[in-house]
Amino acid sequence: MKQPAAPVADPALIAAAAAILEEGGLVAFPTETVYGLGADAENPAAVARIYDAKGRPHDHPVIVHVAPGADLDYWTSEVPEAARKLAQAFWPGPLTLILKRHPNIPDAVSAGQDSVGVRCPSHPVAIALLQAFKGGKGGVAAPSANKFGNVSPTTAQHVRDEFGMDAHDDGALNGGEACSASALAMVLEGGSSEVGIESTIVDMSRLATHGPVLLRPGHISAQQIADVIGMLPAAPDQAAPRASGTLESHYAPRTPVAMATAAALADTLPQLHAKGVKVALIGHALPAALTAHAHAQRVLPADPAGYAYGLYAALRDMDQTGSGLILVETPPQGADWLGVNDRLRRSVFGSAGIIASLLQH
Ligand code: TXA
Ligand code: MG
Repeated sequence: MKQPAAPVADPALIAAAAAILEEGGLVAFPTETVYGLGADAENPAAVARIYDAKGRPHDHPVIVHVAPGADLDYWTSEVPEAARKLAQAFWPGPLTLILKRHPNIPDAVSAGQDSVGVRCPSHPVAIALLQAFKGGKGGVAAPSANKFGNVSPTTAQHVRDEFGMDAHDDGALNGGEACSASALAMVLEGGSSEVGIESTIVDMSRLATHGPVLLRPGHISAQQIADVIGMLPAAPDQAAPRASGTLESHYAPRTPVAMATAAALADTLPQLHAKGVKVALIGHALPAALTAHAHAQRVLPADPAGYAYGLYAALRDMDQTGSGLILVETPPQGADWLGVNDRLRRSVFGSAGIIASLLQH
């Protein structure tokens, strides 16, 4: 993966964050995928605060984050051998397992479904928090720390931007000023998330009838999963558990986003430029001649891990350039690029026909 070791957790801040969680407050924390907005998974009122803060519909379940070595049987009522193998192979790491829900999980976490998503993240700050919270025996319910439908945050600053905080808003950082239990009380720093897109989600809750099902592609590929359990996860079927990251429109900046191949860009970009449309370009192999027509640009690495690492920050940065359109050079389509293409497809949803309409005016 891309990054040098993330910052080491400061024990005093971790203790303060764990205390906030234990009191039912919200803490944003870094993971290796994206930053999470955490609450005590066993406290329904605390979980409800996540939904309020995000503006997230109540029928979207959240993932429960657990410490390394956590007892899966506490959180889930049935753990198939294949799921244990996946946990053993990929945890701590960017894989979420959907399993049958244990009665210990409040309805609010699972949005009433009979399954629960569980994941053990590998970011050292996340692990320190999970080990401090309830002595390592708790679960932290956490969606990505963004407003519903927005691009997920990969830095602490992205989280502050999402929730309109400045660096001094953290009550706990400022001598423990009373924190509002209804809002985000603290953002833990952890550098840039090294994976950069959300965890791979595999449904293992209907193994006997449906086999493993890939609900969301990510850094851990279907093939890597097959290599461990001998079964290739299938694409989601109609009856598959719902996942909001699988909504058609998601991960979207405010500026409309469109995709075009390098060949199409060579035509389109000069035309948009001639029309006075300010275009922010995101590419991985942009020819220098093209970039002259762009208002702003970001070139991402041409490998899938490097591209994923930079993608969300690029979308956020390009969103700030005052451009009328974010134009993304279509990435390669190979299996390694599935996670990136999945997120981009959802970012552009809702902007269909935008290029043609900008050229008409
Ligand atoms: O990488 C990640 O997974 C990040 C970090 C913070 O861990 N979290 C994340 O959470 O992306 P969120 O809520 O933004 O996306 C989690 C996805 C949602 O689409 C949700 O619907 C789905 O997981 N999910 C959670 N529990 C589920 C369940 N029981 N059945 C089906 N889908 C579930
Ligand atoms: Mg999300």
